[in-house]
Amino acid sequence: MKKKIIIDTDPAMGTKGGDPEDCFAIMMAFNSPELEILGITTVQGNVPVERGYSNAAYLIEQFKKDIPLRSGPPNTFNKNRNEERMWLSQRKEMEQITPLVKPDKDEEDAARFIYKTCKENSGEVELVTIGPLTNIAITLKEFPDVTDHINSITMMAGSAKVPGNITPAAEFNVWADPEAADMVFRSGIPITMIPLDVCHKTRMSKEEMISIGENKHPFCHFVKESVEPWINVRSDLVSDEGLHLYDSLAMASVFKPEMLTFEDAHVSVETQGRYTSGETVCEFNESIFGKVLNLKPNTKVALELDVDKFNQLFNERVIDYLKSL
Ligand code: RIB
Ligand code: CA
Repeated sequence: MKKKIIIDTDPAMGTKGGDPEDCFAIMMAFNSPELEILGITTVQGNVPVERGYSNAAYLIEQFKKDIPLRSGPPNTFNKNRNEERMWLSQRKEMEQITPLVKPDKDEEDAARFIYKTCKENSGEVELVTIGPLTNIAITLKEFPDVTDHINSITMMAGSAKVPGNITPAAEFNVWADPEAADMVFRSGIPITMIPLDVCHKTRMSKEEMISIGENKHPFCHFVKESVEPWINVRSDLVSDEGLHLYDSLAMASVFKPEMLTFEDAHVSVETQGRYTSGETVCEFNESIFGKVLNLKPNTKVALELDVDKFNQLFNERVIDYLKSL
C-alpha cells in the first residue's frame, strides 16, 4: 500500500541563490511509486514563502502532477521571533526565474489544508517536513485535535551529536522558527528526525550536477540555472565535494527506512539561548541527568546511514531521470 504524505517545504529551485535541494526531494517523491502525495504546503525558509509557493507550482506543472498546493504565512510562528527573522521574508534581490504566482483569494491556507486532509484520512497521513516547522505549529495551535488524526511526522531537522550548520548550535530548519519546532516536538505525535549527523554523509557530486546540465532539455537547463548560483553562494561546502542532500534523505527515509539506523531520544528545542537558539538537545538518557530522569523518548533520531544505498536510490529516481529527459 502506498504511504499517504503531505510535503511541507521551502523550495528554492527557481530563485537564484536559494538552496535548491528541497526540489530534488520533491522530484524523488514524484518518481516514487511507494508514495501518494496528498498535497504540498510551503513555508518561509530558504526563500520568502510566495517564492517557494511559485517554485512548487512550477515543479508540479513541469511534472504534470495534479497535487494540491497551499501556502503558509510570510512569517514565523511567534510574532516576537519574526522581528529577528524578518530577513527570511525579504531578500528581494534574489532573481526569480519561475513565474510568480499567488494563491487564489479564497484558497485555504496550509494549516487548514493539513488539518482537513489529515482528518479526511485519519490515522494514515505522514507529514514530511523539509523546511521550518511554522505550518505544523500553526496547525497544532488552530486545530489541536489534529494530533488525533496525523499518523506521524518525518522531518529534516536539527542535529543530534554534531554541530549545527546555521550556527554552531543550530540547524537551519529549527533555527528559522524555534518556537514552532518546540511546539511540534512537544505535540506527542510520533516523530522521526533526520538530522545533520546523517544528512552530512550525503552528497550530489559536482560531476553529477554537470551531467544534468549537459542535457539540453529545458527542465535540465532550469535545474542547472537554479543550482549554479547556490554553489557559488556555498562554494565552501559544495564546490569540491558536492551538494548535501538533506531533504532528499528525509524523503527517502519515509519509504526506505532500512537505509538508516535510529535511536530513541527525548528531543527539546532551545528557544531562549542567546547563542544556542534553535538547538535540538537530544537526550539519549546517557547524560547523568538523563540516566536519573530516564526521560520518555519523543523522537526516533537517525544516526547512521548506508550511503551507497541512498546514492543508488537518488541516482535512479532523480539523476538518471533528469538525464533521460
Ligand atoms: O539545514 C538543512 C535544511 O536547510 C534543508 O532543509 C535545506 O533546504 C536547507 O536550506
Ligand atoms: Ca528545505
